[in-house]
Amino acid sequence: MRPAFGALVLALCSSLVASLPSATPGYRVKESVAPPRGWTKGDEPAADHVIVLRIGLPQHNFNVLEQHLFEVSDPDHARYGEYLSKEKVEELVAPHPSSLEAVDKWLASYGLEEADLTRSPAKDWVTIKVPVKTVEKMLDTKYNVWKHTASGDVLVRTTSYSLPAELYDYIDVIQPTTMFGRLRTARSTIVWNDDEDFSSAAAARVGTITDTASGAAVDASCNRTITIKCLQQLYNAEGYTPLATVKNSIGITGYLEQFANIQDLQSFYADQRPDALNTSFNFVSVKGGINDQNLTLSGAEAALDVQFAFGLSYPVNSTFWSTAGRPPFQPDDRTPTNTNEPYVDWLDFVLAQKEVPLSISTSYGDDEQTVPRSYAIRACAGFAQLGVRGVSVIFSSGDFGVGDGNPDPATQECFTNDGRNTTRFIPVFPATVTSVGGTESVPEVAVSRFFSGGGFSDYFPRPSYQDRVVRKFLSNLPKGLYKDLYNPQGRGFPDVASQGDRYRIFLRGVPRSIGGTSASSPTFAGIVALLNDHRLRSQKPPLGFLNPLLYTRGLAGFNDITSGKNPGCGTEGFNATTGWDPVTGLGTPNFGKLKDLL
Ligand SMILES: *[C@@H]1O[C@H](CO)[C@@H](O)[C@H](O)[C@H]1NC(C)=O
Ligand SMILES: *[C@@H]1O[C@H](CO)[C@@H](O)[C@H](O)[C@H]1NC(C)=O
Ligand SMILES: *[C@@H]1O[C@H](CO)[C@@H](O)[C@H](O)[C@H]1NC(C)=O
Ligand SMILES: *[C@@H]1O[C@H](CO)[C@@H](O)[C@H](O)[C@H]1NC(C)=O
Ligand SMILES: *[C@@H]1O[C@H](CO)[C@@H](O)[C@H](O)[C@H]1NC(C)=O
Ligand SMILES: *[C@@H]1O[C@H](CO)[C@@H](O)[C@H](O)[C@H]1NC(C)=O
Repeated sequence: MRPAFGALVLALCSSLVASLPSATPGYRVKESVAPPRGWTKGDEPAADHVIVLRIGLPQHNFNVLEQHLFEVSDPDHARYGEYLSKEKVEELVAPHPSSLEAVDKWLASYGLEEADLTRSPAKDWVTIKVPVKTVEKMLDTKYNVWKHTASGDVLVRTTSYSLPAELYDYIDVIQPTTMFGRLRTARSTIVWNDDEDFSSAAAARVGTITDTASGAAVDASCNRTITIKCLQQLYNAEGYTPLATVKNSIGITGYLEQFANIQDLQSFYADQRPDALNTSFNFVSVKGGINDQNLTLSGAEAALDVQFAFGLSYPVNSTFWSTAGRPPFQPDDRTPTNTNEPYVDWLDFVLAQKEVPLSISTSYGDDEQTVPRSYAIRACAGFAQLGVRGVSVIFSSGDFGVGDGNPDPATQECFTNDGRNTTRFIPVFPATVTSVGGTESVPEVAVSRFFSGGGFSDYFPRPSYQDRVVRKFLSNLPKGLYKDLYNPQGRGFPDVASQGDRYRIFLRGVPRSIGGTSASSPTFAGIVALLNDHRLRSQKPPLGFLNPLLYTRGLAGFNDITSGKNPGCGTEGFNATTGWDPVTGLGTPNFGKLKDLL
């Protein structure tokens, strides 16, 4: 065992502690945020407006779970690949009986009995439906109707909440309280196929070109239009066919009413993967997520994700989850509406399943600062539970360089939300798992039509597996550059990259060209599914939490991307450089090499 992992155990989901204001006597402030920029405080909600309140109880042995995670994910550890069962994980994240008891007693004092509670399998989350006037008493707070100026979105939220002092340590987090996040797809601009280079001209461009980073010979058309074949050529996976008989699986998450259309998938397969024609994916609805196959409602994000992830990994068993989005929300409506961020609903759902797909891609994210720290830590703990069960969790790094989630660089708002309103780069959440940035062209460079999300987390410290390569990157930055704009001690992202622009997909019956790190994440997940196939064939366990492997033994399996940058916040952002950089991470995958290294 490597001593370095000791530090890492503390690092994964822990964060710096913020200081809090004082509360009513007998209460202690649990979380407090500054009024978020871009939102205006409105009226009080109707007293009988019902809130679906989620209470997170401390996961008593989470540190033990983290220790397991780093042992089973460390390729040099004797326990590498010895993943835990669902039951064992639940045992480790179960709250301590005293915490269950204290919370139950508190809820009972407001008339909330067992029949009113919904519990997660490990009992680490309790969900209740309560009128806002009761919540205000329970949490010694005041809710208001807040309106997001730009979008008109409304939420019932508070900027601070407290707990009875004796309960303080028995609860980790309660939402919705201080959460003002607005989950967005990391999808970038769509280019219509009237771009002459995209259709006829691209096909007419014959011959091959060479990618200097990988030495791969690829069809000349790949410099303008990315297809399954281009990715197989670029990433050295041509001719590799997974065995359908191996117990392997891949999954794509869908949110915000993004429906994956089966007819579009068939058009795509006819175009790029004819051997997969007439096959499809398992559809799974989460919390009422729907599956509208009306072609006119087919979602670009969902189309891109399923077509490339499943196309690359065919015939691996594939699953698409549709998680209910946030319906039009009426704060005066008496119907309880869940307005929490949906990816924690998805986590709840998959953690309760016995079998979970082994490689999972998500192309959605939030500005880190809009996700309360306590909630971010609990989401991270959920991803850790998937990792320790042998699942590789993969996220896109975002499309806005070092800036916030605002596609127009002129109106990016790179200011802190902490009341001080200082200028700052805006990291994406979540970037604690495996984060994928974007490249384009042959030879590959960092994308420039939009910008690969990258930088350093303000919440999560740098894990030790990144220490060497991130230190090296930082030591080569011009002295004093971007001082106070980012957290040099923070977890650096992305970890890796893959092509992210000019993907040829089928949407609503027609081919279109689309880009974003939204394309990079499913591509990388597809490559991981191929690597899992290779491992499972030789009776080895799947790859699970990837990062400790990628930063050690995996290093030699990446094409280093050394050109391009990720501007944002009125700066040039960071540069892609030799070695790891916060634009393209370690680089793009070489499947053939990785297969032999693992
Ligand atoms: C691919 O396109 C890029 C950008 O248009 C260009 O710089 C590069 O030379 C092209 N690659 C080849 C091998 O022609
Ligand atoms: C797909 O299904 C159609 C309609 O049933 C059939 O005509 C076609 O031969 C099938 N193609 C493949 C590759 O199985
Ligand atoms: C598909 O959706 C469109 C747009 O909402 C609607 O006009 C159309 O009637 C729907 N078609 C079917 C078959 O439901
Ligand atoms: C594929 O996955 C689904 C959903 O997890 C499962 O029900 C099914 O049995 C799997 N099929 C195979 C062939 O493994
Ligand atoms: C934050 O600072 C910026 C730049 O100084 C300014 O434009 C903006 O209005 C400030 N916002 C708030 C909420 O104070
Ligand atoms: C990026 O590279 C350019 C050109 O070499 C250099 O001027 C600039 O300072 C570099 N920026 C960073 C953030 O390293």
